Amino acid sequence: MKKVYLETYGCQMNVSDSERVATALGRDGFEITNDAENADVVLINTCSVREKAEQKLYTQVGRIRHSDGPKPVVGVLGCVAQLEGETLLKKIPGVDFVVGTRAVGRVGDILTRTIDGESGLVDLGEREDDYDWTVADTHRHSPYVAFLPIIEGCNKFCTYCIVPFSRGRERSFSAAEIVRQTLELKRRGVKEIHLIGQNVNSYKPDTEAGLEGFAGKSAFSRLLRAVAATGIERIKFTTSFPRDFHEDIVEAIETHQNLCNWVHLPVQSGSNRVLKLMKRGHTIDRYLKQIDRIRGSVRDIAITTDIIVGFPGETEADFKDTVELVKYCGFDSAYIFKYSPRPGTPAHELDDNVSPAEKTLRFLELENVQKACQNKRLERYHQASLEVLAEGTSARTENGITGHSTCHKVVNFVGDRSLLGSIVNVKVTQVKANSMFGEVV
Ligand code: SAH
Ligand code: SF4
Ligand code: F3S
Repeated sequence: MKKVYLETYGCQMNVSDSERVATALGRDGFEITNDAENADVVLINTCSVREKAEQKLYTQVGRIRHSDGPKPVVGVLGCVAQLEGETLLKKIPGVDFVVGTRAVGRVGDILTRTIDGESGLVDLGEREDDYDWTVADTHRHSPYVAFLPIIEGCNKFCTYCIVPFSRGRERSFSAAEIVRQTLELKRRGVKEIHLIGQNVNSYKPDTEAGLEGFAGKSAFSRLLRAVAATGIERIKFTTSFPRDFHEDIVEAIETHQNLCNWVHLPVQSGSNRVLKLMKRGHTIDRYLKQIDRIRGSVRDIAITTDIIVGFPGETEADFKDTVELVKYCGFDSAYIFKYSPRPGTPAHELDDNVSPAEKTLRFLELENVQKACQNKRLERYHQASLEVLAEGTSARTENGITGHSTCHKVVNFVGDRSLLGSIVNVKVTQVKANSMFGEVV
């Protein structure tokens, strides 16, 4: 039995693709291993969103090439594979085959042919059918939490972003199929599903099947209600695109308790001028109205975001606008990134004129402001009782259990292993920057 080690970088879409690859390879008679050193095959599912992410591929292949012992077969999957295609074979000695983002359903076939002696196979083709999207039965990142893709690709072409090039055009999965899979996951004991996509609220299926009778202006809010009606315990969704974010999404959350109280709504910048240069298609004014609506909800909905600092032409004044926005919004958490020019994107043609030192300064300043706001916001959880899905044991404390709240915060507590997979009421006794600690009520 050949042993396959699968390394995954990037977003949930990549994690989800890797889960399907691992499951399919398991079915084809390969053994999935956590031991990279002794693997016969190493598959690297790559990310290209920033230069640092892309660099991981080169580091990893370099490590394999320079290690002693027999050399494994190396396959590159994912976004870098899609973007670079055949050139990867020449650029990185030691790479045996390349499989793009929508061809992952054929990895098993390509791997078998490679083992049988074919070399330099490259597949950048489309998915064969919707079957390629079904949630893996085995080899998922958690027995209790499942990632369920509802839309893939991106049509937005934000000027800094490589994703529309690496993931292709938007394509939505039928609601009937999403509901069917949710019911199947529920039957198998999954407690929480994450509806995933580059922009989930741009969801636009070819067919109404599965959405009939559900209220809401957008197809996405109707899908939320349809999935909520399955009765699965918890539903989260990410990422939401501000331009397509409407009140009907908040209304759905207000109606269905199993739609979790968390929205990830990346703003990217607090300056209208920069947003325009980024071609985000939304203004600060509109964004703040959305934040106000979410904050004004009868449910306490956590809001998280992504922000880029140092976009070409971002002035000190633009940056200050971002700082002000962060202070106003009081995000429950924010991912802050330094702008990284990506070859092939429109912004790559602009002068990357914020110096690395300045980017670092802005990054650190914004991080500090966010931390302070976050700490203040998180105080509301102190002594509060949260519903936590017990997902795993934590190595650090004896009888430590770790999981997520409905608002998607990490919560650690002491409890018996038998609690794993159940939803536990936990009273929060300690709030830290990125996690909380509590006691079972
Ligand atoms: N579709 C999602 C984000 C996908 S990429 C959205 O529109 O919000 C995840 C995050 O990476 C983005 O939100 C952005 O903040 C960051 N990102 C994307 N391209 C980047 C680049 N070239 N440099 C730095 N950060 C980038
Ligand atoms: Fe990238 Fe913009 Fe698409 Fe998000 S919406 S994936 S940032 S192009
Ligand atoms: Fe990275 Fe591709 Fe996801 S570039 S963030 S793995 S869509």
